[in-house]
Amino acid sequence: MSVFILGIESSCDDTSAAVLQDTRILSNIIANQQVHSRFGGVVPELASRAHQQNIIPVVHEALKMAGVDKSQLSAIAFTLGPGLLGSLLVGSSFAKSLAWALNIPLIEVDHMQAHILAHFITKGEEGDRVPEFPFICLTVSGGHTQIVRIDDYFSMKIIGQTIDDAAGEAFDKAAKIMGLPYPGGPLIDKMAKDGNDKAFTFAKPNIPLFDYSFSGLKTSFLYFLRDNLKTNPHFIEENMADLSASIQKAIVDTLMDKLVKAVKQTGIRQVAIAGGVSANSVFRSAILQKQHEGVFEAFIPEFQYTTDNAAMIAIAGYYRFLQGSFSDYSIKPYSRSVKM
Ligand code: KG4
Ligand code: ZN
Repeated sequence: MSVFILGIESSCDDTSAAVLQDTRILSNIIANQQVHSRFGGVVPELASRAHQQNIIPVVHEALKMAGVDKSQLSAIAFTLGPGLLGSLLVGSSFAKSLAWALNIPLIEVDHMQAHILAHFITKGEEGDRVPEFPFICLTVSGGHTQIVRIDDYFSMKIIGQTIDDAAGEAFDKAAKIMGLPYPGGPLIDKMAKDGNDKAFTFAKPNIPLFDYSFSGLKTSFLYFLRDNLKTNPHFIEENMADLSASIQKAIVDTLMDKLVKAVKQTGIRQVAIAGGVSANSVFRSAILQKQHEGVFEAFIPEFQYTTDNAAMIAIAGYYRFLQGSFSDYSIKPYSRSVKM
C-alpha cells in the first residue's frame, strides 16, 4: 500500500505544502512573500503574519492538485527548524493540529537535512537517478553554506561550513549594495548573463580546510564600489552586468575550490548540490564541468527543489515514516541548527 505524506514548510519567507506518494511528488505548492522585497531582507514579523494568511489555502491547493483527500494521508511532516521562530511556529502549530484531528503520525523534519534529501524524490520512471551512500552535498542557501558527508538518510556530518556569511547572503548583500531588491541572488544571475566575469577581480578568502568565509568579499565589493563612485556617480548603472558577473564568479569559484578539495581528501566521488544558490546557472555549469572532467559524479536538483519547498520536507518525512520515527505534540521549533 502506498504511503501518502503531506509536507509543510514555513521556516523563512515561503509558505509551502506538498503531497507525496512514496517517493513521488504529486503536488508542491509554494507561496512566495513579496512583502519583504522593499525592505532588503526578510522581516520576521511580516513573514509569520503572511504564513498565517497563506497556510490554509496552500495546504488546500496541494491536496486538491494531488487529487488526495486528507483522509488518505498516512502522516504529516513539517519543518521543525532551523529558521525564524515565528514562521516555524505557524507551520508546526498547523501540522500538529491537523495530525491530531486526523489521528495520524506527526513527523518533525530538519530543514537542512531536507534540502539534501530532496535528491531522493523520484518521478517513478525508469532512469530515475539518486545518489548512493556515502555522498557529499554542498548545501548553499540564504542562511547556510555547508559541505556535508551523508552516510545514510539521517546520518550526516558537516565537514566544512561558513564561518560568517552564507553564500546566498553574499549574493543578496552584493545585490543590495548595487541597489537591487531582495532576494538579489536570482537578479545577479540574470544580469550576469550579459556581463564579463573577468572585468573586476576581488580578493579570495584564505580559510583552512573545508570552511568558507564570505564577509570579506562583501566588504571588498562595498569599498571597490565606494571608490569608483567617487569618480563616476553612474559607475554601478554603467557596469551592472560586469559587476554581477564578476561577483558571481568570485562566489562560485570559492564554493568550487573547497568542494573539489573535499572530494579529493575524502575520496567520495558522488557530489550533490542543494539549497537556493544551487539554482544559480554558473554554479550549476561549474558542477557539470567537474563531472565532465571526471572529478566527480554530479547530482543537481530540479529548480523547484532548490529554493525552499515542502516537497523536500515530505520526502524527508517519508524516510522517517519508514523508520517509525514520529514526533510528540510537545515538540518545539528551534531557530538554529542543532541536528547533524
Ligand atoms: O534555500 P533558500 O530558498 O532559503 C534558505 O533556506 O535560505 O535560499 C535562498 C537563497 C537567497 O539568498 C537567494 O538569493 C539565493 O538562495 N538564490 C540564488 C539564486 N536563486 C536563489 N542565488 C544565486 N543565484 C540564483 N539563481
Ligand atoms: Zn532553505
